Amino acid sequence: MYRIVLLALLMLSSSMAQGKAGDASYGTLSYDDFERPMTCRPCHTNFYYQWDQSMMSIAYTHHWDEIEYFKLAVPHADMEPEVAGVKAGCNGCHTPMAFRAGDTPPPRPEENSRANESVFCDVCHTITGFEGDVPFNFNFYSSPGRVKYGPKPNVNSPYHTSQYNELFTQAEFCGGCHNEKSPYGIWVKSTHLEWLEGPYPAQNVTCQTCHMPKAEGVSALMGKKGMVAQHLFHGAHDDGKLRSVIEMRMEPNAREVEPGDRVTFSLQLFNAKTGHKFPTGSAEERVVWVHVEAVDADGKTYPIPVDKKGFEGEEYTIASEVLAYQDMGIPLNEPDFKGVRREMIPLGDRVYRMPYLNPDGEMTIMQWYTADLGVDYRLGPRETKVETYTWQVPDEVAPGKLTVKAEMYYRKLPVAVAQYLGVPEEESRAVFINDAATWIEIFD
Ligand code: HEC
Ligand code: HEC
Ligand code: HEC
Ligand code: HEC
Ligand code: HEC
Repeated sequence: MYRIVLLALLMLSSSMAQGKAGDASYGTLSYDDFERPMTCRPCHTNFYYQWDQSMMSIAYTHHWDEIEYFKLAVPHADMEPEVAGVKAGCNGCHTPMAFRAGDTPPPRPEENSRANESVFCDVCHTITGFEGDVPFNFNFYSSPGRVKYGPKPNVNSPYHTSQYNELFTQAEFCGGCHNEKSPYGIWVKSTHLEWLEGPYPAQNVTCQTCHMPKAEGVSALMGKKGMVAQHLFHGAHDDGKLRSVIEMRMEPNAREVEPGDRVTFSLQLFNAKTGHKFPTGSAEERVVWVHVEAVDADGKTYPIPVDKKGFEGEEYTIASEVLAYQDMGIPLNEPDFKGVRREMIPLGDRVYRMPYLNPDGEMTIMQWYTADLGVDYRLGPRETKVETYTWQVPDEVAPGKLTVKAEMYYRKLPVAVAQYLGVPEEESRAVFINDAATWIEIFD
């Protein structure tokens, strides 16, 4: 009996893996093959509104996506043969239906075309499998139609046929869009691969565990009661998801200190919350940093720069006044563009990031133009990093209790890049992540 079921499943999975995946799927389907998210709303009302509030429902229409695609990627693809494929390829993940319909570039968001539906119900629930061993660059198979694939066997719907597909319960399902290789063969998004290297796969903690948490309820109006996967997809655009991602503690190596003495503060940063690195995904744009300062008994403040560790590429991890992102000038037809400030934060602060380098070795936010990666100084899942801050206590410090504070902040996009490209401020504002404090006593 078991064997027959297995055989049936095997036959089914091979018949499911039809059609084309990745680049080869370009133009193989049409818009009309997919059902609108509105069609699912009357019965899957809660999931509809959860999804509607997530970034995936606006993956094509969001202001920064529109700016990066139309202002940078499309013109760049038209002038640089090496990256020509991204003109269509961006949409393979951001509006997969438009890609599979062969519509490039799709109409602008204000034209209200179906490309605006972005990553929606029928895109995901008609995925049958993926090509090869590693999910990346939209290499999933898509089979739109009456059958909706999902995480549970024996589900009955009056509207559609439901078909169990184990992939929906696995992290690989997300990897098809959350791993990305640039035209130069570099991993420029590796959220699923980072997860794979961490402690969570062995504990069966998947992407779904943290981004689609299960709660008791129904998945459809007339559905059976049980544990159902909430379609939250909350990530870096949710301040609550970001809050306390990293836990911090700090201690001095002496409690009683005189002016002129050197004291060293150690700061531990524990990545308690993410299943991948922090920051992950569009890491080319993310800036995470820690600012440390002392406040003496009179309330006077003294910034304390981080101690250098001496690893290769460390200069990218310490805030400075250098200019970067010169290559934005290429698609914008400003060949002499000098670049903008890499980060606009206090000098000497530690930055947790991984620089993306273009073929000229310059730092880029145009991830498709990445030919190399610099030092990876991000915080891995459950990793703890320790920073030290050695400080010679200035003579003018007031006697009494001196507090030392460390604060971590996060930006989705460097401020100067946002200003240069006209991206709304919400993308580049600093989000508070966490803080820590300790104290010393200053004696005369
Ligand atoms: C068909 C492609 C595709 C699939 C499959 C997919 N995603 Fe996404 N996801 C995207 C795109 C594109 C965005 C970016 C939205 C935007 O433009 O900001 C995104 C955004 C997100 C975000 C929000 C990030 C932020 O900055 O706030 C989360 C969280 C997320 N996805 C989780 C998941 C999880 C978990 C899965 C698997 C269950 C998954 N995604 C499967 C394409 C996909
Ligand atoms: C007329 C109501 C109705 C409409 C419209 C509808 N569904 Fe369903 N759907 C259901 C019911 C009922 C279930 C079963 C729920 C249960 O018993 O857990 C279901 C189950 C599902 C499942 C779960 C399958 C599994 O394996 O767990 C998926 C996925 C799904 N629907 C997707 C869709 C999508 C996508 C659309 C829109 C294109 C849609 N549904 C439209 C009623 C509907
Ligand atoms: C980014 C891909 C993605 C999108 C978009 C998406 N889903 Fe899902 N959906 C999933 C995955 C993955 C699961 C299984 C999660 C699990 O079991 O861990 C799922 C589960 C479901 C289930 C079964 C829930 C349960 O636990 O029984 C239903 C029903 C469903 N989705 C309907 C919808 C509808 C309706 C929409 C649009 C409003 C939608 N989904 C949008 C990926 C997606
Ligand atoms: C243990 C919980 C956990 C697991 C497992 C997990 N995540 Fe996350 N994820 C988080 C938290 C917390 C954040 C918010 C902090 C951040 O942006 O990294 C986040 C952020 C994200 C973001 C936003 C990143 C950005 O910069 O826009 C995406 C996308 C994402 N996760 C996708 C995934 C995918 C795909 C998987 C599976 C391969 C996954 N997550 C597994 C907890 C988790
Ligand atoms: C392999 C899938 C994939 C491809 C191809 C892809 N993206 Fe994305 N993109 C994503 C995912 C997933 C996210 C959101 C989560 C994250 O940041 O990891 C994202 C996020 C973004 C964001 C928002 C970043 C932010 O600050 O939240 C922009 C803008 C963007 N992509 C533009 C593009 C452009 C332009 C292209 C083509 C050159 C492109 N993407 C190609 C998957 C893809």
